[in-house]
Amino acid sequence: MKKSYDIVVIGSGIAGLSFALKAAAAGRRVAILTKKFRADSNTNYAQGGLAAVMAAEDNFDNHVQDTLVAGDGLCDEQAVREIVRDGPERVRELVGIGLEFSRDAGGQFDLGREGGHSHRRILHVKDMTGKAIEEALLRAVAESERIDLFEHLFAIDVVTAVKVDPATAVFGGNRVLGLHALDVIERKVVAIDAPVVMLATGGAGQVYLYTTNPEIATGDGIAMAYRAGVPVRNMEFIQFHPTTLYTSGGAGAVAGWPRFLISEAVRGEGAILRNFAGEAFMPRYHAQADLAPRDIVARAIDNEMKTSGTPHVWLDIRHKDEAWLRQRFPQIFAGCEKVGLNLARDLIPVVPAAHYTCGGVATDLTGATTLPGLYACGEVACTGLHGANRLASNSLLEAIVVAHRASLAVDAYLATPREAVLAVPAWQDLGGDDPDERVVLTHSWEELRRAMWDYVGIVRTTKRLERARARLANLAKEIHDYYWHFSVDPQLLELRNLVVIGELIVACALQRHESRGLHYTLDHPQKLPAARDTEVRRG
Ligand code: FAD
Ligand code: SIN
Repeated sequence: MKKSYDIVVIGSGIAGLSFALKAAAAGRRVAILTKKFRADSNTNYAQGGLAAVMAAEDNFDNHVQDTLVAGDGLCDEQAVREIVRDGPERVRELVGIGLEFSRDAGGQFDLGREGGHSHRRILHVKDMTGKAIEEALLRAVAESERIDLFEHLFAIDVVTAVKVDPATAVFGGNRVLGLHALDVIERKVVAIDAPVVMLATGGAGQVYLYTTNPEIATGDGIAMAYRAGVPVRNMEFIQFHPTTLYTSGGAGAVAGWPRFLISEAVRGEGAILRNFAGEAFMPRYHAQADLAPRDIVARAIDNEMKTSGTPHVWLDIRHKDEAWLRQRFPQIFAGCEKVGLNLARDLIPVVPAAHYTCGGVATDLTGATTLPGLYACGEVACTGLHGANRLASNSLLEAIVVAHRASLAVDAYLATPREAVLAVPAWQDLGGDDPDERVVLTHSWEELRRAMWDYVGIVRTTKRLERARARLANLAKEIHDYYWHFSVDPQLLELRNLVVIGELIVACALQRHESRGLHYTLDHPQKLPAARDTEVRRG
């Protein structure tokens, strides 16, 4: 690989790939680093689709309004308006690179519906939207001569030029120089020079024991930005998807999925949640019943399970014809069949699982952070679109819109004269390896994810959050020692990042003395009208 690029993009999901394509089209030399195989991403798993105003009977105000309602008073309305408005144009670009969204018999987009949406506006490719997007973008990237894509290259940390504030003698990064990354195959750390680093590392679902997210979702970009002194926002708002498949033993893993998702689009087509008494319980919780915003549905299910002592609730779409279900939801149908369930004949056992990180690295709508040269886009970022709860299918939308805007902003940044280029220093490997000590990693990984699930879940209390904070502080110390004494490997790096993520979620949750959107605490059940974003920055 080359030693220097104009731009290094970390991540090969929808955000990183879309941004890289645009930056390369503007003439920039781009490296994409990805820590596993190129298609290993949350994007590849997306089922329901991408929300955009495409139907004549819909309009931008409707989509804005639905997003604001789901966000429970915390969205940045300007961000919502701009992202919603840019959606259709970015969709047309995806179609332009060969993405074939499902269409109806008349050739119009077959728009789906999901929780919180007042209109049909979900563009989808059956129930495998993310896979189709990932494939289309990877094809386009492969055709670009200005993009080098490196698999199994794990970004460790962004490297910055250091400045000292003469007034306070405080050190801080004043601009990006590049980064260090672990070549996972060669087992060595490389230094790459680049004035711009784009974090497109996705979310952090793996910080919870049960999650829909694939293994890559360990919050690396958020932890990197935090370590570089960049503010991180609203991390308490972790979205739990209401309906993931429950299988005996509770694991719910099917064919490589950590927790097999039963898309909200299934409820969009009329599926109903029932408790063990057979009651369709959602009308008791919200006027939109089964299509209420996700935070409300997940909490309702949690409540039904707790009050009845049952391990799951049921999803019922037996009124639909089998052939239609097989055609509309082929992946979900096949996934259920793998565990002996037929969507058209059986009730499907479902439970909530951690799904989406609504908070993240604080950015504007161009992906810019407070650190010159550091940008963030996609699930890693917090632009203000989601507020306290993301509206379904708004994340793929946000990723393509912000990637486009970021490409323009980065181009302008690179065109501005900067001080002399400094090289990223070589990595100092002070450690060796101690196989006996490796058990610490496995143990800490499990302890962290269980503590987050038990103490920082759908319903919280201050006492439980404080308990989690104490556990995480111990883990952080152990992992810090390990990091400085042994050679780095992906398991250690991910654990180091996940502990930071856990600490950020707890810190933000403890700052919020109210219940709003995805943050519900028994100690502060009311909403405080004046409450705004939470923010954490490395002191
Ligand atoms: P990702 O697609 O997660 O990509 C992150 C990339 O960064 C990966 O390539 C990863 O390997 C790489 N990476 C991470 N850390 C490092 C590192 N340290 N070094 C190098 N590389 C790194 N949203 C919707 O809008 N509609 C849906 O229908 C929908 N369905 C979903 C279904 C499931 C099961 C899941 C899990 C999510 C779903 N979402 C959906 C959410 C959506 O898929 C994600 O928010 C979105 O795909 C995130 O895209 P991204 O590009 O930001 O990150
Ligand atoms: C789903 O298909 O239910 C997931 C949609 C999303 O997370 O936006």
